[in-house]
Amino acid sequence: MNELDTIVQDAQAAFAAAPGPADLENAKAVFLGKTGRITELMKGMAALSVEEKKSRGAAINIAKQSIEAALTERRAALARAELDVQLRAEALDVTLPGRQRGQGGLHPVSLTLERIEAIFASMGFDVADGPEIESDWFNFTALNTPQDHPARSMHDTFYVEGGSAEAPNLLRTHTSPMQIRYAVQHVKKYSAATGAFATALFSGDMPEIRVIAPGRTYRVDSDATHSPMFHQCEGLWVGENVSFKDLKYVFTNFCRTFFESDDLVLRFRPSFFPFTEPSAEIDIQFQSGPLSGRWLEVAGSGQVHPNVIRNMGLDPEKYIGFAFGMGPDRLTMLRYGVNDLRLFFDGDIRFLSQFQA
Ligand code: DAH
Repeated sequence: MNELDTIVQDAQAAFAAAPGPADLENAKAVFLGKTGRITELMKGMAALSVEEKKSRGAAINIAKQSIEAALTERRAALARAELDVQLRAEALDVTLPGRQRGQGGLHPVSLTLERIEAIFASMGFDVADGPEIESDWFNFTALNTPQDHPARSMHDTFYVEGGSAEAPNLLRTHTSPMQIRYAVQHVKKYSAATGAFATALFSGDMPEIRVIAPGRTYRVDSDATHSPMFHQCEGLWVGENVSFKDLKYVFTNFCRTFFESDDLVLRFRPSFFPFTEPSAEIDIQFQSGPLSGRWLEVAGSGQVHPNVIRNMGLDPEKYIGFAFGMGPDRLTMLRYGVNDLRLFFDGDIRFLSQFQA
């Protein structure tokens, strides 16, 4: 093998052995650099004749081109290898499940409250919200239940700071105080705007009061069907000519819409509440389905007592109406077939997630 072939082979072997781009450039210098083996051969041609230079020069050039070709090839191979390493390091496993954001849902009782609000809104009822810490006046006295009234004993609750020593503030035992609060506020607003006495409330642009007031209520009570915190929804319709007939229509329509069934009947069972006279418990009975045939109590109701109308700032000779108070927790249990009220307040996600739409 001649000298040039040896140099080419040496170069090819050196390039192949270079583990990275920097080593390759060093190896290149050995052959093609200023003092490299090919360069030295070129320098050595100075002493040759013109003829010899031609043939020798051509031979060296061929060797040089072979070395450059080997160099280019090795450079490309190293660059490819480097890219491979990089791609492998940055690889994404597209089959890995993504990190998901847990999707929340509304609490079943909230679903019921939204439903109640939508149904009553469709019948022209306003929706009002009120304080859970209530005064003795709004919770009891204004509702015709003075200090010594025996009906108070059924409403044991949690007393809090504020109010007077004889009549401390309390966590409201029902949503009925909202009857007074809502009426007083709207009577005031109307008389301020019109300069008229409260008895003129129902003329002009506010012909009557029609409102529901859902919210949290409290009593010292706890078992499978009672919770110290529970929900109520108050209803009130007062006008010049609102009767029990309207109550019957409104409540029947509500129940049928709420339970999505015309297959149920209502019973108005005589009862007593200090703030209504006469009063009735409203029971419903499904004519089909798993609860078929049983009477289920869903609300208290009645014609608003004249003393209560007076405490609203209205003339009981002129204004009359009905009120009702129902239990959204109970309605939720009936609608979904839940048998223990406490499930609503345990916060167990296995239970709650079943109500997600
Ligand atoms: N507030 C009553 C209770 O908690 C329920 C009730 C009964 C509300 C009759 C009313 C009503 O508005 O007219 O036991």
